[in-house]
Amino acid sequence: MTTSGIDLSRELCSFIEASPSVFHVVANLAKALDEAGLTRLRERDAWQLRRGGSYYVTRNDSSIIAFKVGRDLPEEGYHLQMAASHPDSPTFKVKQVPELEGPGEMLRLNVEGYGGMLDASWLDRPLGVAGRVLVRRGDGRIESRLVASDRDVALIPNVAIHQRRDANKGFPYNHQVDLCPIFSAGSLRMGAFDEMVAHLAGVEASQLLGKDLYLCNRAAPRIWGWADEFVSAPKLDDLQCTFPASRAFVQSDNPTCITVFACFDTEEVGSGTRQGAMSTFLHDVLVRANAALGYAQEDYLRALAASMMVSCDNGHAVHPNHPELYDARNCGRLNGGVLVKEAASQKYTTDALGRAIFTAVCNDAGVPVQTFANRSDSAGGSTLGNKSSCQVSVLSVDIGLAQLAMHSSYETAGSQDAEYLMRALAAFFATDIRIDDAELVAFE
Ligand code: CO
Repeated sequence: MTTSGIDLSRELCSFIEASPSVFHVVANLAKALDEAGLTRLRERDAWQLRRGGSYYVTRNDSSIIAFKVGRDLPEEGYHLQMAASHPDSPTFKVKQVPELEGPGEMLRLNVEGYGGMLDASWLDRPLGVAGRVLVRRGDGRIESRLVASDRDVALIPNVAIHQRRDANKGFPYNHQVDLCPIFSAGSLRMGAFDEMVAHLAGVEASQLLGKDLYLCNRAAPRIWGWADEFVSAPKLDDLQCTFPASRAFVQSDNPTCITVFACFDTEEVGSGTRQGAMSTFLHDVLVRANAALGYAQEDYLRALAASMMVSCDNGHAVHPNHPELYDARNCGRLNGGVLVKEAASQKYTTDALGRAIFTAVCNDAGVPVQTFANRSDSAGGSTLGNKSSCQVSVLSVDIGLAQLAMHSSYETAGSQDAEYLMRALAAFFATDIRIDDAELVAFE
C-alpha cells in the first residue's frame, strides 16, 4: 500500500463525513471549486465567458457542472473532455408529515426508500438526518438552508430472534411496516421532528415550508486492515469516484480544449429529473458556453463529434464468498486499479473505441486497468453514461472502482483505488484527445 494512496482515501473519508446528504456533497464540491478560484455562474443570469476562464454552475443545489475553457482554445474545431459521476446514494427520505405515533409513548419516523438499498444494512445502527429545508424569512422571501443533525436521532430496530425464529432464513422487509425508525421513547411529542429541524435550520417550525430530508449513517469512515488495504464508509458509491474526479479536475490545466466535470443527482432513482443525467442540464451548459465564447451552433455540433466523456460510477469487486455470482474473467478486485465496465446491452456505454482511448491514457499514466462485465444471465446495474448520452451524444466510456456490498449503508473498497482514479483522470484531462472518427484519434 502506498502512503499517497492511503492519504487520498483519508481525505475521501473526511469528504464523506462532511457530506451527509446530496446537497452537502454539492455544497462541498462548490466550496472546493470556489477555493480553486472558479467563477460561479447562475443559470438565470447572462453568461460572459473567456478563454482561460474556469466556471461552475449548479441546478437544484444537487447537481453541479464545472468547466475550464482552455486559454488557447482554437477559433475553429474545439472539443470537450468530460468526466461525470453522481453525488447521491440510496437512503431513506423522511415524509413531509414525518411522525408515526405509538405504540405506547413511542414516536417513529415515516420514511420511504430512495434508491435500491440493502435493507438489512440500515437496521440496528444509530442514524442522523440531513438535507435541505425551504424556510420563509421575515421579509417574506423563501430561502434554502442545509441542515444536518449533529448527533444520531433515529434507529430502525430489528425484531429479536425470539419473536422471529426464522429471521436467519432471510427476511423480506416491508418498507411501510418493518423499516420505520424510532425517534423517541416517550420524551418527545408529535411535532418534535419539525421542531428539531427548525432548530437545526435556525428558524421557527412555523417558518418551514418544505423539506428534502434523508436518513444518514453517521458512522465514521475508516481505513483498516493489518496492511491498511481497505476503506469502509457510507456512500462509496459514488463518492469514491466523485471526490478524486473533482480533485483531478481542479488540478487540470489543458490549454487546448474545454475540460468538464459533472456530477448528476438522482442517478439512484433513474436520472429522469430536471437535474439528472437525462435532463438538459449538461446540454444547456455546453450550448450556452459555446455561444458565450462566440461560437455558432455548427461549432457546438462539430465539438461534440470530436469530444469524449468518462462516466465514473463504482462497480463490483468479486465477493470472495460468492465468486459464482460474477463473470470468471471479466471481474474486478480491490486495489486492482480502474475498472472499465462493458455490457453488450449498452447499459454501460463502453465500446472498443472508448476502451482503447481510456486504456491508452491509463497505460501512459502507469495506472492499472481491470475490466468488468456482468454474468451473461444477469442484468446487472445501470449508470449515468448512457442516459447523459441521450442529450449530449459523445463518445463515452463507463468506468469505476471495484467495491464490495454496493448499496449497503456502509460499503467497503480498496484504499489504493481512489488515487488510481485520480491519476487516470488527471492524465485524461492533461492529454489532448480529439476524436476525428472511429478509426483515428488525435492523441497528444
Ligand atoms: Co453508483
